[in-house]
Amino acid sequence: MIIRVTARAHPNIALAKYWGKIPGLRNTPATPSISLTLQALKTETIIERVDSNKDKIYLNDIPADKDSAKRISAYIDLWRNNKLIKGRFTISSVNNFPTKAGLASSSSGFAALTVGLSGFANRKISLPKLSRLARLGSGSAARSILGGLTALPLNPDPATKQLLPPDEIPWGMVVAVVKADKKKIGSGKGMEICRKHSPYYESWLKQAAADYKNMLSAIRNLDFTKVGEIAEANALAMHACMIAARPSLKYWSPATIRIIQSVRRWRDNGFEAYATIDAGPHVIILGKKEDLTKISRRLRHIEGVKSIIKSNAGGNAKIVRCK
Ligand code: DP6
Repeated sequence: MIIRVTARAHPNIALAKYWGKIPGLRNTPATPSISLTLQALKTETIIERVDSNKDKIYLNDIPADKDSAKRISAYIDLWRNNKLIKGRFTISSVNNFPTKAGLASSSSGFAALTVGLSGFANRKISLPKLSRLARLGSGSAARSILGGLTALPLNPDPATKQLLPPDEIPWGMVVAVVKADKKKIGSGKGMEICRKHSPYYESWLKQAAADYKNMLSAIRNLDFTKVGEIAEANALAMHACMIAARPSLKYWSPATIRIIQSVRRWRDNGFEAYATIDAGPHVIILGKKEDLTKISRRLRHIEGVKSIIKSNAGGNAKIVRCK
């Protein structure tokens, strides 16, 4: 009997964002999305079978806060209710990057947990099924099951498809961390605020579908300029939808805007890079692989940038140890 599994997954940053859920369906995105998995950032999760009547959950070496513990236990219940696993577990998950700060930690967190739990499953679980299960934990986690550039199409029960494996991707990302505070409104709640209270929500859904289609063809042609232009415009459209909500959802800080403006200035001066922002203040810069060091150097001079993480495309979520 398996007693201990260690799983690893990398977070992903969307180039075409998932923002909004279809009401009444189980965590089904209302927008199709495309993302790049980041090799330098990772979550490592140890899952151990315990003789207890309760799961125990630790995040970054301390007991998980109430909300996270509830969400993770409910996810493990889903596996138990579907008769995929039996028993109780101690889960201990560690990130090498800021957690719950709008840096996609739920994508790698739920992907690592999903792949780790599959090590205890009483049957082999296919990759599409793993991706669907991960999505029920967190929508973006579905995309971290596979590495490289991945897409999550729009349908009632989507699974991720890989568009390009990591070694065929000529681009990478540089994360400019501007503030490592825990975010105030999580993605799930933020999406619902937009759906119910943003006058731009319907336009966002239309734009997101068009961006997805155009992004697929830009990636097929390895057209960096198109990919970058769509990614930056898509992120800004998502934030416009958030800002327009009543009450307004604002994730940016002054440094966020400073970075966006700098990246635009770089382009005006002939240096090609593009910015994207998730539900947090950090800015993630998409650049050609050979330009990542230059981008990091330039970011260092911008006021409010706390730390910088440079990354190439990362691989799939996997079990690294099992006993
Ligand atoms: C802005 O996957 O965190 O990062 O499904 O509610 O867990 P839940 O949401 P989550 O949302 C990700 C939102 C985003 C965009 C993206 O990753 O596509």
